[in-house]
Amino acid sequence: MSKKFYIATDHAGYALKAYVKDFVRELGHEIIDLGPDSADRVDYPDFAKKCAKSVLADEGSFGILICGTGIGISIAANKIPGIRAALCHDTYTAKLTRQHNDANILCFGERVVGKGVIEDMIETFASTEFEGGRHAGRVAKIEGCTFGANLG
Ligand code: RB5
Repeated sequence: MSKKFYIATDHAGYALKAYVKDFVRELGHEIIDLGPDSADRVDYPDFAKKCAKSVLADEGSFGILICGTGIGISIAANKIPGIRAALCHDTYTAKLTRQHNDANILCFGERVVGKGVIEDMIETFASTEFEGGRHAGRVAKIEGCTFGANLG
């Protein structure tokens, strides 16, 4: 089934963006580019926020975020309630984060993973459904963590 993706990067993920957009389109999905528009230095939290807001405003859509390691941009996105941004390194993590965490943003590092792995991760992330069941309650508790409800 065709999905809709929003993509954003920082300067350290910028070089991969055009390639990833083409690949997502080849798979038959829609992809919307939220920037940046050049490889000039930018701050990854700004682009994590842009992508997170778009995903939350468009039910059923997904995001792709890329920075040098994937770490900073995923940490920033996960500060936004409703976002479950998964930093993935392989097909297994991309599959399990959809099945168990209902992840809505796929993150990876341009300096960490190669194009073959990236293609496999995107294909897997886009085609794998959330399993629900015992995972649904845990995912619901993630929002509780955001507001400190589960800290005690
Ligand atoms: C930018 O140099 C780099 O710090 C950033 O892309 C990312 O890897 C941070 O986590």
